[in-house]
Amino acid sequence: MSDSYEFLKIERQDRIAIVAVNRPDKLNALNDATVREIRAVFDGLAADPDVGGVVLTGEGEKAFVAGADIAELARMGPLDGIRTSRRGQDTLRAIETLPKPVIAAVNGFALGGGLEIALACHLRVASETARFGLPEVKLGIIPGYGGTIRLARLVGRGLALEMILTGEMIDAPEAHRIGLVNRLVPAGQARGAAVELLTGILRNGPVALAMALESVDAAYHGATEDAQRLESNLFGLLAGTDDMREGMSAFLEKRAPDFSGR
Ligand code: COA
Repeated sequence: MSDSYEFLKIERQDRIAIVAVNRPDKLNALNDATVREIRAVFDGLAADPDVGGVVLTGEGEKAFVAGADIAELARMGPLDGIRTSRRGQDTLRAIETLPKPVIAAVNGFALGGGLEIALACHLRVASETARFGLPEVKLGIIPGYGGTIRLARLVGRGLALEMILTGEMIDAPEAHRIGLVNRLVPAGQARGAAVELLTGILRNGPVALAMALESVDAAYHGATEDAQRLESNLFGLLAGTDDMREGMSAFLEKRAPDFSGR
């Protein structure tokens, strides 16, 4: 995976990749090229054995991502609209289905496509000054990167519809209260707190983490019966891993586990 992108900044910290959208002068708004770069990065991260998990954030103190690039959207016709939406949806699905934990470090405005990206991440850590909203109706459009689907699933239909129909922002304490955000931290600390949370998560068995993500995703999107069958099969599959033997031996021997990811 190349670590050189026009609109993204990639850093490595041990087994964590920190991916930052890097257009701070435009509040990290997602132009088409940025969406393509995010897709390419996540495809690379999926295949990179040195990466155990990802923190996704925005450069600068002001914004996580302030939405899709309105200057680009303003020029679109109906077919561009469908293609733009599909490309965004596919990119966010690639984030959501990464077999490694992805944490959004929301350091400021998470609006429109920015909130939709945060929703596609597995967990969200936000600074107390972050603000969240789906303001698309104010522009005469609707959320098109999965926001009408994921927000209602996370916070419930009533709260999601309130945010989508009013287009108004909510602040970070409110986002935390309604379960949109997992953890709230002081301003300027979202990235560090996300790395710390992920570091703790990555002490667990890597194969188990991947399968937990797959099982939860299946339940989220499919029928309960199918999800239960998959859960049992994954549970059984884990019984054949070195990681399970190591994790259980370590517990019984009262020592920390040393997982190999096999
Ligand atoms: N698309 C394109 N450019 C954007 C943008 C977006 N979604 N959000 C911010 N920008 C640009 C602004 O046009 C401005 O560019 P300029 O300096 O070249 O004029 C720059 O980022 C700074 O934004 P500005 O609006 O001046 O900052 P602010 O502090 O006054 O307001 C916001 C911050 C987030 C409230 C405001 O930028 C905003 O409402 N952005 C749009 C949010 C939105 O509707 N997103 C959904 C899009 S579908």
